[in-house]
Amino acid sequence: MVLLKWFVCQLVLFTAFSHAFTDYLLKKCAQSGFCHRNRIYAENIARSHHSYYKLDAESIAHDPLQNVLHATIIKTIPRLDGDDIAVEFPFSLSFLQDHSVRFTIDEKERTVTNSSGLLISPQRYNKTWQHAFDKKFQDEVNKTNFPELHFLKQEHTVNSFWSKISSFLSLSNSTNNKVHLRNGDVSLEILTEPFQLKIYWRNALKLIVNEQNFLNIEHHRTKEENFAHVLPEETTFNMFKDDFLYSKHDSLPLGPESVALDFSFIGSTNVYGIPEHATSLRLMDTSGGREPYRLFNVDVFEYNIGTTQPMYGSIPFMFSSSSTSIFWVNAADTWVDIKYDTKQNKTVTHWISENGVVDVVVSLGQDIPTIIDKFTDLTGRPFLPPMASIGYHQCRWNYNDETDVLSVDSQMDVHRIPYDFIWLDLEYTNDKKYFTWKPNSFPNPKRLLSKLKKLGRNLVVLIDPHLKKNYEISDRVINENVAVKDHNGNNYIGHCWPGNSIWIDTMSKYGQEIWKSFFEKFMDLPANLTNLFIWNDMNEPSIFDGPETTAPKDLIHDNYIEERSVHNIYGLSVHEATYDAIKSIYSQSDKRPFLLTRAFFAGSQRTAATWTGDNVANWDYLRISIPMVLSNNIAGMPFIGADIAGFAEDPSPELIARWYQAGLWYPFFRAHAHIDTKRREPYLFNEPLKSIVRDTIQLRYFLLPTLYTMFHKSGATGFPIMNPMFIEHPEFSELYDIDNQFYWSNSGLLVKPVTEPDQSETEMVFPPGIFYEFASLVSFTNDGTDLIKKNVSAPLDKIPLFIEGGHIITLRDKYRRSSMLMKNDPYTIVIAPDTEGRAIGDLYVDDGETFGYQRGEYVETQFVLENNILKNVPSHIPENLIDIHYDTLRNTNIEKIIIAKNGLKHNMTLTDRITVKQNGKESSFSTRFSHENDNKITILNASLDITENWELVF
Ligand code: NOJ
Repeated sequence: MVLLKWFVCQLVLFTAFSHAFTDYLLKKCAQSGFCHRNRIYAENIARSHHSYYKLDAESIAHDPLQNVLHATIIKTIPRLDGDDIAVEFPFSLSFLQDHSVRFTIDEKERTVTNSSGLLISPQRYNKTWQHAFDKKFQDEVNKTNFPELHFLKQEHTVNSFWSKISSFLSLSNSTNNKVHLRNGDVSLEILTEPFQLKIYWRNALKLIVNEQNFLNIEHHRTKEENFAHVLPEETTFNMFKDDFLYSKHDSLPLGPESVALDFSFIGSTNVYGIPEHATSLRLMDTSGGREPYRLFNVDVFEYNIGTTQPMYGSIPFMFSSSSTSIFWVNAADTWVDIKYDTKQNKTVTHWISENGVVDVVVSLGQDIPTIIDKFTDLTGRPFLPPMASIGYHQCRWNYNDETDVLSVDSQMDVHRIPYDFIWLDLEYTNDKKYFTWKPNSFPNPKRLLSKLKKLGRNLVVLIDPHLKKNYEISDRVINENVAVKDHNGNNYIGHCWPGNSIWIDTMSKYGQEIWKSFFEKFMDLPANLTNLFIWNDMNEPSIFDGPETTAPKDLIHDNYIEERSVHNIYGLSVHEATYDAIKSIYSQSDKRPFLLTRAFFAGSQRTAATWTGDNVANWDYLRISIPMVLSNNIAGMPFIGADIAGFAEDPSPELIARWYQAGLWYPFFRAHAHIDTKRREPYLFNEPLKSIVRDTIQLRYFLLPTLYTMFHKSGATGFPIMNPMFIEHPEFSELYDIDNQFYWSNSGLLVKPVTEPDQSETEMVFPPGIFYEFASLVSFTNDGTDLIKKNVSAPLDKIPLFIEGGHIITLRDKYRRSSMLMKNDPYTIVIAPDTEGRAIGDLYVDDGETFGYQRGEYVETQFVLENNILKNVPSHIPENLIDIHYDTLRNTNIEKIIIAKNGLKHNMTLTDRITVKQNGKESSFSTRFSHENDNKITILNASLDITENWELVF
């Protein structure tokens, strides 16, 4: 038996690692009981126009303390004998964040007959929000059961319900009652029969909930009741069993439990979001028999491209180009159908989850950045990563031993290739036992860390949540009773890298503590060694012999929760527990953790970076990496990259060059390679490839001050770092499906990486304005009012990169071996004026490694060019600037100023001296070493401190 299991496991592994991901491992909608049932239900309802759900107008009540409207939704199941069955679903609705509406539909407490053998809670799981929402909402919620609400102003003193709420609510007398609610710019109507919500922003209708009557809640029923309880439009397909090859052992203890609902986005035929999928940025229409998008965290080695198949992470957040979003707060297996209706200028979406409750946050706003801002306010801002972690990461499966690591480390220096992080994959462990080191290869990890530390370098090691059976770590997990259980209540055993493994249950508070204690021992390092960080891989979780490569849905977590209910947040619970552990271990030095996770959910951005998983070294995967990274960026999780230059297989030199040139723009910039591939550290390349890659990595380092400023912006508002064209220029509908060209945040840097072989030029799209080619600052102007297309030169050593006029970016442009070694370098600013001679740029600076910034230890400033005067306007200077200046901020001087000049209408030429006005006084400096050509003026030897107010007069 054991041998057979081993054989099956090897077979799965072999299959998985020798071909692209094979479709047959994953269900299609028609093979998934609840997806199929809901699609059929929707099709039939579309024909019958029937609705079985109404909101009982009499039940509407307002809870003034919690600012929540409560009501009951009733599903009526007609019976031939006239004895209709009425099922009740508690409904709640509240306003939050000024811009948002949240509503929930649960099922009235279920009484489960014959529940004696049941090891899971029979109630619907309604706590996903506690994992997804930011802590600040949690605290409020714990107090009031709902987040802080700005419901409406009303008098609390009046007794009767109708007069109590009359100031904000009106109920019409027709049979289809309507309840009107308003909160500032957001207003809504609740229609009672059939149940529907209409949501408005500034009186314009933006979203209709249940317009199609696809609302369907499979209420609890026994097998016996089943046939009596189905609606005419329902099918009973796989209600109590699962036929799918790899899932047929699913015990489905509670039978059918799905929840489904439709949302029509009005005034838009473009929707975005719901990562992670290897498809275009603008989501595809899934009608006409195509597969719905699926959100279900799974391990998909060499995933297929252009499909709606699920991947490693799930963020159930979608928005339309008319600035309306929905966040479907459900962590179960979820499918989403999308139908664009160009005639009616709307998009109908149908969301189907296997179980849990309907819990939805709808946000509205004047533009898309506001929507993303609201989403990341609710689910937490992306964490501000250590500066080093936005540099270059050198990874491979595997660096074999200490000598190997140190040799890569020194070769990078010999070849003048900067890097900050080197990574150890799986094989550093002793026999795949996490929290151990292979003794002969890594005999002295402290020595290794301290050698790396000299140049400020960091080491990341992999720690996965599956734990090999029979060693001290897994023994402890079992003894402490914090392993995930099978449906019989025994510790679940499955296959992963180490063979027979158990899984830590980080859904349990106690499990998190035990997990933390493992890190405390493993990372018990001298106080000065804070350069060890963690990578949580395989945390979907990946289970080689599990259904669809992941956990059986009937596994049991702490508190009697079924895996089915929390599948998509398990990975989040693993990486959050890991983050908390590292943070507390490094608390003495106050260092910010860096952490990489493969599985993610809404909220993961608070603590971890991610990447697009196991791609392949070919042009298709390079191309798709851009929309994939963009999709996470607009869904609140910007710190993402793709394995450069393709994880599996050996890339051609041309592909390597192009992939680095694209990867330089990923917020997370890491090269990684499968164990079976040839070594490809950049110093091994022949010329000209080596120089091309080196220059590309160096450019990333030069841009670090600008990139770090973008991470700060993202940490404050969720603003995307890799930023789609349509967010910067929503006025052009042609940009709504462009996903091969993008901006870097709001810096004005506009890039189109080359993702095809044999190119010497590429076509870019330019909005009106002036654009400067980055390297030369040669400009061209689109002086019309429309977009123009233009071929730009793109030989192998060149990235099609422009700065849009009107921006100022900041660089540190001296080659250094690591980001830490750049700290003493002065800044260079590059000014790209618009045609009126104006430009603006932001700069954010802190120590790059501690939480000091949360105590105000940072500088934020804005450079403004107008009327030939460049001003520095600091908006934040730390109170203790003098104390921290040298130790943390180091060099805050601008030494070099480059001004692009050939697009200017007026003349700007270099004078002998430049006047500086500061504190009412004037001084000047000589431009003896400065120079000028047709395109730019380069001023050297300036000494202008960004922490002071000054004006430079040209
Ligand atoms: C799967 C990950 O996706 C990959 O990056 C890693 O190299 C392997 N696991 C081995 O740990």
